[in-house]
Amino acid sequence: MPRVYLETFGCQMNELDSELVAGRLAQLGYTMTREPDGADVMLYNTCSVREQAEQKVWSRLGELKKTKKGKPELVVGVLGCMAERDGADLMKRMPVVDIMCGPGELDKLPELLDNAVRTRASLLGSESVNLAALQGNTSRRSGTLAAAEDQLELLDLSRTVSPVDTDASHRSAYVRITRGCNKFCTYCVVPFTRGAEIHRPPEHIVEECKRLADAGVVEVTLLGQTVNHYRFEHGASVSVGGVTQPQKGRTYKGSHHRDAFAGQSVTTFADLLHLIHEKVPTIQRLRFVTSYPRDFGNDVLEVIRDSPRICRYLHVPAQSGSDTVLKRMNRGYTVGEYLEFLDRARQFLDQPEIGRPLMLSGDIIVGFPGETDEDYEGTVDLLEKSRYKNCFIFKYSPRPGTVAYDKIPDTVPDPIKRERNNHLLAVQKRIGEALGREQVGQTFDVLVEGLSQKQLKASGLSQGARKPRTIEVTIGGSAVATAPIVDEAEHVEGPVQVTGRSDGDLIIHFEARDAAEAKSLIGRIVPVEVVSASGLSLGGRLLPG
Ligand code: 5AD
Ligand code: SF4
Repeated sequence: MPRVYLETFGCQMNELDSELVAGRLAQLGYTMTREPDGADVMLYNTCSVREQAEQKVWSRLGELKKTKKGKPELVVGVLGCMAERDGADLMKRMPVVDIMCGPGELDKLPELLDNAVRTRASLLGSESVNLAALQGNTSRRSGTLAAAEDQLELLDLSRTVSPVDTDASHRSAYVRITRGCNKFCTYCVVPFTRGAEIHRPPEHIVEECKRLADAGVVEVTLLGQTVNHYRFEHGASVSVGGVTQPQKGRTYKGSHHRDAFAGQSVTTFADLLHLIHEKVPTIQRLRFVTSYPRDFGNDVLEVIRDSPRICRYLHVPAQSGSDTVLKRMNRGYTVGEYLEFLDRARQFLDQPEIGRPLMLSGDIIVGFPGETDEDYEGTVDLLEKSRYKNCFIFKYSPRPGTVAYDKIPDTVPDPIKRERNNHLLAVQKRIGEALGREQVGQTFDVLVEGLSQKQLKASGLSQGARKPRTIEVTIGGSAVATAPIVDEAEHVEGPVQVTGRSDGDLIIHFEARDAAEAKSLIGRIVPVEVVSASGLSLGGRLLPG
């Protein structure tokens, strides 16, 4: 069977999509490989959120032109947001691409791939033919969204779960709760590429969590563009072929202080968290991303506070610290309301005295059209007040198809965007470092993930050595390594440095006695006292458990 190489760009949602696609293809007999050399099928799961993410894919596709000359039977596929957004244009620009499959149609990938592989084989020797064009992919793709949703739910349900090995990356899993987004922030392509917001039935979510936990997963991260909008009305649920269907989300216009949607037949986000926490106690860590800073009720904060296995970590993008910019972005809240939410969250959840300080992270866009120096100063001020443990900072990138692209001219010159970006990174670095220093002396429960970067280097296990066993993931343009693997260090003598995360997502390094102890710690949650903070990195000491 053909060997398939799949590379993922962009967000966690894409990582999960890739995992599901890889699982499905493996079920069908394809061999998934982590080596691009020698693969028969090259798939790129792409991201369109910023131009930079797209550039990377363009350059990968450029490189493939040469490869394909020497190997004409190679099948190349573009999955995800670029396939949805660029459609036929992408194929015109890059004839090397044989198939395209948007994020709403990944359930159909096996069929497309099968056709492409067969057709490619039978066409060998003839002139290059655009395979997806033969299949009418582009017109089919924009077909009935509702039907696509039903099938997509089946893709989620088809998830293959096998008992985890020592590879720490398998101890942690994503579970989707909503797809798409209804917010239409003026700069963002997501509502166009991923479609309208829909919510998965809670029983499917709980079941998936159970299966993962049974297989040895200890940490589940629930995924959605705006997780706190999760809502499932049981009275209105529809079943097709015995499968409860996902439900369309509502458009939120209400106050940012909205509390529980009372009513027995509704599962709200607070209910969902409670349900998973109670029904699947073997999940030792339950987290979720991304939270929208509005519509986040106290009911959710109470559930987090009262549930020992729900992490004290919130990723709540502010995007800007200026009310006028927020308005132009169509975010629907003011800076004051945003900060009020952080205060409220801290009141409920910040408990350093029990080793559970609330940790926050954010996203900021600098250089949004019309952003003045004063607006930017507001953002600096917001960072100072928010005290994120980390913040993803992006330069505004105009995205075709969005309201900002069409209606709000990109007025901030690139050098100013760059300057603000660099300055804000420095501000955040200072804040993150100060926050880190405050943790010295604290003890945290740390989920051990693997060898630290330092240990990998010291043992001659370069990034390259790990690459074949990791899927490259990029967030905000910088590579985020998936969990390092400890087996490769078995030959190392003496103490071994490992790395893990606190429930507030702080990264902490500490020494294990030797490689054997390091291996035994992987995937476990152990108490670690923070003894040093240098830069953004915290050093700890393993306490007797
Ligand atoms: N330009 C720059 N950053 C963007 N983001 C989304 N769209 C754009 C854009 N057009 C950022 C937002 C979002 C994160 C996932 O990406 O900060 O929260
Ligand atoms: Fe994009 Fe806004 Fe939806 Fe987030 S909430 S995915 S930024 S439209």
